[in-house]
Amino acid sequence: MNVPVRLRRLRQTPSLRALFNETSLSPRHLVQPYFVVAGKGVRQEVRPGLGLWQVSADMLGEEVGALEKGGAGGVMLFGVPEHKRDDGQGLAQQLAPLEAALGEVKARAPELPTFVDVCLCAYTTHGHCGLVKDGVVVNDESVRVLSDMAVLLGKWGADFVCPSDMMDGRVAALRRALDEQGLQRVSILSYAIKMASAFYGPFREAAHSAPSFGDRRSYQMPAGNRREARRELLLDVQEGADALLVKPAMSNLDLLRDAREATDVPLFAYQVSGEYAMLRAAADAGLLDFDRALDESLVSIRRAGADVIVSYAARAYARR
Ligand code: PBG
Repeated sequence: MNVPVRLRRLRQTPSLRALFNETSLSPRHLVQPYFVVAGKGVRQEVRPGLGLWQVSADMLGEEVGALEKGGAGGVMLFGVPEHKRDDGQGLAQQLAPLEAALGEVKARAPELPTFVDVCLCAYTTHGHCGLVKDGVVVNDESVRVLSDMAVLLGKWGADFVCPSDMMDGRVAALRRALDEQGLQRVSILSYAIKMASAFYGPFREAAHSAPSFGDRRSYQMPAGNRREARRELLLDVQEGADALLVKPAMSNLDLLRDAREATDVPLFAYQVSGEYAMLRAAADAGLLDFDRALDESLVSIRRAGADVIVSYAARAYARR
């Protein structure tokens, strides 16, 4: 057979395949989420195997030591407050578990980057990502509260504040609020493209953040809108985001690629709770090999353009 170009030649051995590998994946590319609760001695997986860990600050200290040693990229912290309230007051008290958590992380793993979620869904009884007035999620009042939240987290040592609420104008507002408080060193990782997605189910159980009425479609994005996604992205760059995030990851690989080409700002993708759960469920049903499917999904997300992936698998990777 006359085949002038044979691509199989470069795939013959493991060392050749390694030599020509185009996409690397190592623990430093991965950030592990934790759900931080009040109290002591808590370290529990919300449902076995799903990678959603609720931890108290002291136990987080143990976790991050291991993560840092294993070379993980960082931790993403979500607060689970003891009490919910809907007026945006008493934030410092609601955020107390995160204050303790940031102290622990800085003490135990000073070099490990900390990313902290900025959103109201876990802090309000209605479970929406902003304040609600007359049944409507109000934008500008919400942004004021989110800015207060970012400033507190910045003061407590967060390296990155990560607005995931999808209100308009929040990146600029957070930047201004942080700078006014002398928190120039605090970076903003903005959830720039966040779909109103069914894949957040398991997360809402871990964060106690499911909306009690309606849904999130008046602020999160419709999955079908590619041009709108680009507008979201470019706006956040203009407003001063230091890094951008796209989520869910696997159903938006094209948008990740678009994002990579539209801007040089560092890009994150979030392999969300439902994506991880799908892989786990399929593996549990004997339909696929979990580790291999996970590797393939993460490599594909990196190939699509993500510098960093927030994934419930980061912990396992760093410990391998
Ligand atoms: C908070 C937030 C959510 C996720 C990250 N930040 C949930 C939501 O918007 O309902 C989802 C992450 C996951 O599913 O793993 N707004």
